[in-house]
Amino acid sequence: MSRLSALTQDRGIALGKTPEEIDKARNQFDMGQLAVAVIEVQKPSEKIPAIEQTYSAGAVCLALLNAALAAGWGANWLSGWQAHDPEFCRQAFDLQENERIAGLIHIATESKAPPERPRPDVAAITEWVSE
Ligand SMILES: Cc1cc2nc3c(=O)[nH]c(=O)nc-3n(C[C@H](O)[C@H](O)[C@H](O)COP(=O)(O)O)c2cc1C
Repeated sequence: MSRLSALTQDRGIALGKTPEEIDKARNQFDMGQLAVAVIEVQKPSEKIPAIEQTYSAGAVCLALLNAALAAGWGANWLSGWQAHDPEFCRQAFDLQENERIAGLIHIATESKAPPERPRPDVAAITEWVSE
């Protein structure tokens, strides 16, 4: 985690990020205990469209997140600007051009419940159609 934090600092400076942006991005590695990097790998396929390969990697993130929560851990799915920086991905995880970070799933003992926030009105954004 300290290696990823230092790399975030280097990349943030190289990309012209503000000190606040760099601090926020480093924070997940400075505070985190364990993070699983879920990597999307795009493979040429006549059967599986690229977008479905992306969705699948996202589904892995959600499955892992829910499994960790169900097992009683605190868990969160984070990314941040560095996760979308190809040079960070290369130096951090030796990712190739067809690979991306889908998510960093942080898992640890929960010390306090996460604060709630305003939620959308699901009924207002759901459309039911009957034939
Ligand atoms: C793909 C993805 C990336 C995220 N990246 C970040 C992030 O970099 N920083 C952050 O504070 N929250 C990020 N979040 C949001 C947190 O994970 C969020 O707190 C979590 O999804 C809990 O959702 P809730 O607050 O709606 O319950 C991200 C969420 C997703 C789905």
